Order: sequence, then structure tokens, then C-alpha cells
Amino acid sequence: MTYLVIFTLLICLFIFCYFFRNKNGIPTNWPLVGMLPALFQNFHRINEFFIEIMEKSSELTFLFKGPWFSNMNVIVTVDPSNVHHVLSKSFGNYVKGPKFNEIFEYLGDGIFNSDSSLWQYHRRLAHSFFGHPKFNSIFMKKIWEEMESRLIPLLNNVSKHGVEIDLYDTFKRFTFDNVCNILLDYDPKFLSLDLSPIPLFQAVNDVEEVIFRRHAMPTSMWKFMRWLGVGEEKYQKDCQMIYDFTNKMIAMKRAERKLDNPKEESEVIFDNLLTIYMNEVENHTTPTNSSNGDEFLKDAFLNFFIAGGDTTSVALSWLFYLLTKNPHVTNKIREELNAIMVERDDDDNNDDFLRKFTKHKNELVYLHGAVCETLRLYPSVPFNHKNSIESDILPSGHRIKPNMQIIFNMYAQGRMKSIWGDDCNEFKPERWITERGNIKFEPSYKFSVFGAGPRICQGKDMALTQIKIVAAAIIQRYDIEVVQGHQVVPDVSLKLQMKHGFKVKIVRC
Ligand code: HEM
Repeated sequence: MTYLVIFTLLICLFIFCYFFRNKNGIPTNWPLVGMLPALFQNFHRINEFFIEIMEKSSELTFLFKGPWFSNMNVIVTVDPSNVHHVLSKSFGNYVKGPKFNEIFEYLGDGIFNSDSSLWQYHRRLAHSFFGHPKFNSIFMKKIWEEMESRLIPLLNNVSKHGVEIDLYDTFKRFTFDNVCNILLDYDPKFLSLDLSPIPLFQAVNDVEEVIFRRHAMPTSMWKFMRWLGVGEEKYQKDCQMIYDFTNKMIAMKRAERKLDNPKEESEVIFDNLLTIYMNEVENHTTPTNSSNGDEFLKDAFLNFFIAGGDTTSVALSWLFYLLTKNPHVTNKIREELNAIMVERDDDDNNDDFLRKFTKHKNELVYLHGAVCETLRLYPSVPFNHKNSIESDILPSGHRIKPNMQIIFNMYAQGRMKSIWGDDCNEFKPERWITERGNIKFEPSYKFSVFGAGPRICQGKDMALTQIKIVAAAIIQRYDIEVVQGHQVVPDVSLKLQMKHGFKVKIVRC
């Protein structure tokens, strides 16, 4: 009898809420389950869903209410002043926090998953690497070597035989090779002429999908599913495959170190990042809470490998997709490249692409605009989150309770009329160029695709340069045509990858 009364009451509540549901675009906050039904219903198109909510409610921030007793009340914001506040001004009050650490457990004690002194430690080591005076020239040389020896010959081959190629998969192989070559000084050669499938990539995708799904569930729910073993076996196997790869890389570097004669201090010009971490482990100068050196190295390397591996390939793929839709932009980039890198060059050696690129890269304003515009419309990392320590009030007036989650949706931020204007859905590199023809600066809290403040992406400059080198070399040589009937759609996951890849034909121009 009691159950019947409760059941009838709940039905009445649902009917009441249905008729009195929010008509201002904010999802209905149902009794017991909060806004979870709307989230589940729209999960497959979550980024578009956030745009709709923000646009309909004409606010740039909203409070997502989770189920009762679930601690799933989340502030979702795209408001630049809130981004600035959380990521910069009140940086000390907003951390990754325990919820993030649990969801991303597979990243262990690496930079992404750490706060306070452990994060400062990683940040300092990484800065000694990315901020080294030799870093830029070394990494550009490595990118160009791989382009010259493998990417361009592959594209030449494909264009010669008129066959289709998945450009997203190709870029992914290229950038994972690149990131290993830069972080480890070792090229695993994922990019090869035969393009045989790489199970490691599938494992990374699958793990990221599981982690992404965890965002849409109360912690107790995904933990319960894990306890039941739902999807767990596959997840554990995928994680293990990724760990096996990182451990193999570490073992290989260890073996190399044993063979190498110890170098004189003056001989060491530039250490790769893993070597920097290994020196720390050998000198016992790692943070005290990481007792196992190998485990610590695995976490450290894995985080940089994941950060740099697939993010630039996603950006490159969307750039070329947008160029296929906007051939006038391709033509303008080509004109700029020809005018600046070919005609304006006073040196006789016209084949030396890398030297010319290095010399003129800051003058390639239109190319820069096209890259920023791509990242605005298709940010490789579409969302980011932080957790509050103490209560606070955001510049938008929204109240923050202690231990509350704040999600920034960079995909929605880039497509807000109130932030970027009525033409925000158009691909316009001109948006990034001043009237005087210089690069237009946009603050990182408005264009927050690389994050902002003290935790801004450490690979930002490297990624932008990498995208521009590859784009310039390809645009000067080829036209890209999407294969007829092939659907290019974004996937919903931690990264904005292309769901069905990017099948194209390459035509020599
Ligand atoms: C288009 C390419 C890329 C995009 C859009 C991107 C975006 C981001 C974002 C949104 C964050 C999170 C910032 C935060 O937690 O507030 C981040 C962090 C980071 N990124 Fe990138 N990234 C890119 C490429 C790279 C590359 C190539 C590397 C080099 C290995 C890299 C290394 C890092 C590192 C180390 C962090 C952690 C910073 C920290 O927590 O202190 N990223 N990136």
C-alpha cells in the first residue's frame, strides 16, 4: 500500500513537472533524478545541446542539477569572465580535485591528474623542456624530417594512384610519431606506407570513451557498474595495452642509457623529456608520495603522450575539412605562402622549406587565422573542468559551493553569437586579422581552447607550429577532396575526433 502511494505521488510529480517544465531552454529539473533525463537524451550530441541551452536561455552559464543526493550539481559555463575568474584570478580556489582524479584514474600521478605541489613539480620539469632555447629548432627539425621522409612520399603515392585515404588516421599516426620523437627522441613509425591498423590507437579511443561516459553519471553509478564488471574487462585490457606501450618505451630508454657512455656535462645540449624525468628518479628528487620510480615514469610519460598525440591531428583534420568547404580560403593561404615563402625569399635554395618556414612563420597571418578559426569551431579538447575548494560567487553572479564542479564547454563558447558575433558559425580567418594586417589577439578566456591562466596548455606553441608546418607543406602541393558520400561528423568524447574518419582523395596541384 505504501509503495502504491509513493508510486502515485511520483507519477503526479512527473506530470506536474512536465506541464510546468522550464520553457526558457533550461532542461526540466525532475524530482529525484534532476536533469539527468535531458542529459541522457542528448548525450550523443552533448556539445550542440549546450549551445542550445545557452542560446535559448540567453545566459552563458547554467546550473545543471543532478539526481538528489548525488553531488552532481554542476555549473556549465562559456562566459569569458567566469573562465577568467576560475582559471586565472581565483586559480587557488579551483583544482582538478578528487572527482576528476577518480574519473581519470588511468592517468595516475601525471600532470593532468595532479594538483598543488605535485602539479607544480611536473609543470617545472616540463617547462625546462618546452621552454629550452633549443626546443623550437629541434622539434621543427623532427617534424620536417618525418614529413619529408614519410608523410609527403605517402601522399604522393596516394595521389599518383588516385586512391582514397583516411586523412585523420594518417595525421594521427604522424602526430603520435612526432610526440614520441620529441618526448623520447625515438620514432615508433606508426606512419608507414602500408597503414596497417594500430591497436594502441583503438585502445586510447575506447578508454577515452569510457572516461567520457563517466562524466554523465553520478560517481556512485559508474562505480557500481564497475563493481558489477560492466564493460570493465575491456577497459582494463585497453588500459593495460596503453601501459605496456609506455613501459616498453621506458625500458628501451633505460637500456639505451646503460649503453651510452656517461656524457660530460658540457656535451649534453638538450635532454628529451623522459630523460629529464629519469634523472629525477635516479637522483631521488621525485615528489615523496611516489615511491615506485617506474610507476611514476609511466604516469609522467603517459600524460604527455596523450596530451600531444591526438590533439594536433584532430585540429589538422578539421582544418582540411573546413578548407574543402571553403576553397577560397585555400586559395588565399596558397597566395600568402607563395608571396611570402617563395617570392619574397632572397635565398637561391628554394627547396629548403623548413628554413623558409622558420624565417617567415610569423608573417603567415592568414594561415594563422585559418588555424585559430578551425580551433574556435572545432576545439580538439571540447570541454574542461575544475572543482571548487571553497564557496565563491562567479562574475556572472552564480553561487559556487565548496567541492562543486564547473565545466567549460569550449565548443559552445566558440559558437556563441554574443561572444563572436552573428557570423559565429562561419569559417572566417579574417576574424583573426587586424585592419593593419597583423595577427589579432584574443584573450585566452574568450578563446579558451588551450585553457588559460597558470594551467594553460604547455604544448600550445608547439601544436600551433606543428599544424602550420604540415598545413603549409600540404596546401602548397595538393588539393584535398572529400570522397563522395563520406560523412564527416564529430564524435562525442574527450577529444573532438572525426567519428567515421576523414576519407579523401589527394590531387597534386
Ligand atoms: C591543438 C592542440 C592542443 C589543444 C587544443 C590542447 C588543449 C589543452 C587543454 C584544453 C588543456 C587543459 C588546460 C587545463 O587543464 O586548464 C591542455 C593541457 C595540457 N596540454 Fe595541451 N593541447 C594541445 C596540444 C598539446 C601538445 C602538442 C602538447 C605537448 C605534449 C600538450 C601538452 C599539454 C600539457 C602538458 C597540459 C597540462 C597542463 C597542466 O595541467 O598544467 N598539448 N591542453
